[in-house]
Amino acid sequence: MKNSFFISVRGMLSVTFVCITVSFSFSQQKSAVDSIDIKVEALLQKMTLEEKVGQMNQYNGFWNVTGPAPKGGDAKLKYEHLKKGLVGSVLNVEGTTNVRKLQEIVVNQSRLGIPLLFGLDVIHGHKTLSPIPLGESASWDLDAIEQSARAAATEASAVGICWTFAPMVDISRDARWGRVMEGAGEDPYLGSKIGIARVHGFQGNNLAAPTSIIACAKHFAGYGFVEAGREYNTVDVGTSTLYNIILPPFKAVVDNHVRTVMNAFNVLNGVPSTGNKFLQRDILKNKWGFDGFVISDWASGAEMVEHGFAKDLKQAAEIAANAGSDMDMQSYAYVTYLKQLVEEGKVDIKLVDDAVRRVLRVKFELGLFDNPYKYCDTKREQETINHPDTKTALDIARKSIVLLKNESSLLPLPKNQKNIAIIGSLANDKNSPLGSWRIGSDDSSAVSFLEGFNKYNTNYKYAKGADLTVGKTTFIRELQMNETDTSEFAQAIQFAKQSDVVIMVLGEHSFQSGEGRSRTKIGLPGVQQQLLEAVYRVNKNIILVLMNGRPLAIPWAAEHIPTILETWQLGTETGDAIAQVLFGTYNPSGKLPMTFPRSVGQCPIYYNHYNTGRPRPKSKDEVFFSHYTDESVNPLYPFGYGLSYTTFQYSNLIIDTTDNKNIKVRVTVTNTGTRVGEEVAQLYIHQRVASVVRPVKELKGFEKFSLQPKASKVVTFTLTDKELGFYNNDGNYVVEPGDFEVMVGTNSQEGLVGSFTKR
Ligand code: NOJ
Repeated sequence: MKNSFFISVRGMLSVTFVCITVSFSFSQQKSAVDSIDIKVEALLQKMTLEEKVGQMNQYNGFWNVTGPAPKGGDAKLKYEHLKKGLVGSVLNVEGTTNVRKLQEIVVNQSRLGIPLLFGLDVIHGHKTLSPIPLGESASWDLDAIEQSARAAATEASAVGICWTFAPMVDISRDARWGRVMEGAGEDPYLGSKIGIARVHGFQGNNLAAPTSIIACAKHFAGYGFVEAGREYNTVDVGTSTLYNIILPPFKAVVDNHVRTVMNAFNVLNGVPSTGNKFLQRDILKNKWGFDGFVISDWASGAEMVEHGFAKDLKQAAEIAANAGSDMDMQSYAYVTYLKQLVEEGKVDIKLVDDAVRRVLRVKFELGLFDNPYKYCDTKREQETINHPDTKTALDIARKSIVLLKNESSLLPLPKNQKNIAIIGSLANDKNSPLGSWRIGSDDSSAVSFLEGFNKYNTNYKYAKGADLTVGKTTFIRELQMNETDTSEFAQAIQFAKQSDVVIMVLGEHSFQSGEGRSRTKIGLPGVQQQLLEAVYRVNKNIILVLMNGRPLAIPWAAEHIPTILETWQLGTETGDAIAQVLFGTYNPSGKLPMTFPRSVGQCPIYYNHYNTGRPRPKSKDEVFFSHYTDESVNPLYPFGYGLSYTTFQYSNLIIDTTDNKNIKVRVTVTNTGTRVGEEVAQLYIHQRVASVVRPVKELKGFEKFSLQPKASKVVTFTLTDKELGFYNNDGNYVVEPGDFEVMVGTNSQEGLVGSFTKR
């Protein structure tokens, strides 16, 4: 399929290159913007309505499907459309040779030769993979996250890609939703900072540079709030949640010049995102002044018919174009009907012009009119792909690991530790640790847990204990977990009995999270819980190494297992990163970006909830307060939580309100242990009374730093109107004077508390 298309076009190219050859180097200076606008206008004047619509049309390539597979036989049609200038962008085509071939068709054969944008889901690396985004977010290290995105852009740009559909900045509170792995977790403040770091990493300082690719903030908006965590489900949220939780990360990246935004599959309060004028025009473009363009999600235009919002594809095109969805991903809606809709007066040509201007502007900014083959340097492709930047991947991987428990200080392990048992099929897995979303990487290319461990210590016996899955594990099919086969438990138990320390590597397969992978049970899948308990019965000295794409509900392990290390899916360098932490070469410093529930029944669970009118019982026997009768309301591990091999003490909280517009909060942090370590000091606020009730806590500052043993550091946070205000239910940002509580500490539940009055 892949090759036959190209064979059919080879040798058919005649050169009719009418492209405007203007040289442009991007900068944010006004003159450069003006000059781009002039070029955009000049080009727009030359375009027919059909060609304009073409710029609003994106087709999937012909192999790497990342949505429901399009019907076969559309390759010929797409080729004809490329020649006629009816395609503005292509997704899922990679490799300099493939990209060049398609680019040559539009440049040489279409009337105006407007270059294509090549988009791909480069979510956490391309060939070399960093941890899944949720894992990376646990690093709370913005520089490392930016570097990771930079490395991804360097590789992706080398294989012809100029546009990634990342970062996903959807805030999510429900671990059942499979796509929590792709975001930064539950907090809008942390999520905004991480979103900005990722955008900077992808886009670089200069879009015209060869390694810069445009980023895409997705999914606008509310996709992280699908009901009951079920993929593609309804989203029905209140205005306060929309304005204060969902929208801020989008606004943050728009303010930081993200060039594209993707709308979403979901309805938001009954209106599909793709047809949502309020979101796309009123807020994104008009209120926030976004000057990039909006891409639909995969066929989300067409899905408005299924939603019951459009009667057919033609009406879907009309609604989407009027609502401000600038480019249609693979639903054929615009390319089939938009010209007619304009001619019938159903869509104003001014709206089409606006969309096309946005798309052209980005193409100019990337320098594609100067050199449409900017991303097609085969020599660079070879050099980059053959020399993967594993250093960056390893650095962020080890920083993403979170130490959840280390009760009897089993960790770090002495390098010469004898009599170790290693148990769990994930320990010997080179594929699952790559995580979901890994289009450009080779299968089974991760350094496995065992391979990493071997570099430090080989005094172990390994037993897989049980298979995690049954049958083949490919991206497309539903995974079948091993729910019954315990035949290999015996060997694991025997090794555990003979050992001084047991390391159990358990968790999810990476294809249990990601798009289309929601779960209702979020404990250890398959027979792993049974295996853990069976081993525990013979040896309690267990280090549990978790690999998972979402927070897991593991209350039994949290109670019984002395040491627990959260490693997510760490990508290419998995084994090396974990080994460095196990043997203390790197002291763990990660903090959870998302609450771990005790049971699935607590979901959605998040730290920044409201207090309710009945937060606690008035007497011992009181029943009428906000609680469960069979479960605590507290999480298993809270947001912001994570331990180190050293300990940190917080003291001397000082709140200085001398300058009431710049309130200073100072705290002293001391490394009270014996090892050098990194801490993330976190500042939370709570306004006691406001016109819209405020969450019990809101993160408004954090700083990550390293401290030598016995060393102290004074950390200073500044609270301005930017931190102290909120969006009211009209969507206006307000700062209301009043009393605030402040907490500074090591996670969202532990810290020093103070208060101040904002005048
Ligand atoms: C659907 C996903 O929701 C979106 O995030 C992704 O970028 C597109 N498919 C393209 O693969």
